[in-house]
Amino acid sequence: MQAETLEDVLQRDLEFAYDCEQHLMHELPKIAEAVNSRELRMAFEQQLEQTGLHLARLDQIFSWLNRPAGIETNHVIRSIVGEGNKLIKHINRSPLLDAALIAAASQAAHYEIALYGSLCSFARALNLDDSASLLQQTLNEEKQADQAFARIAEDSVNREALQFHNTPHIFPLL
Ligand SMILES: [Fe+2]
Repeated sequence: MQAETLEDVLQRDLEFAYDCEQHLMHELPKIAEAVNSRELRMAFEQQLEQTGLHLARLDQIFSWLNRPAGIETNHVIRSIVGEGNKLIKHINRSPLLDAALIAAASQAAHYEIALYGSLCSFARALNLDDSASLLQQTLNEEKQADQAFARIAEDSVNREALQFHNTPHIFPLL
């Protein structure tokens, strides 16, 4: 899109956020299904629930701005999730896979934190107080999700992963 004003830049980044959340809605069930740890599965399921909430907030903001939800494709989240899908293909269900998926989840969370951090500050600069407040709620939840994943890694998964040696699939999955 052509960006001429800060409103345009805000719109563009809102579209990136929207596509990011939509892509996560589509992919998170598959990731939750692939993990070994029950606690980690619950964390991914909770993230899926929150992703629905994040999408609803973005819908609300687009309607306040009287702009469409948009068409930008978010290649960053597609790339991070794509790497996560490769891990699922190449590592058997195990604490090792869990540790690797937590690292991917952390990369996605940090990307979302950066995105929503910028969106909050653009909205505040434009005096869009209601939008800024919704974006801030999402930003806080992204930070909490990142901390929850890190806690699971530190408390159990990384230690359990030390004991596991992956045997590559004899017939690699395509
Ligand atoms: Fe999100």
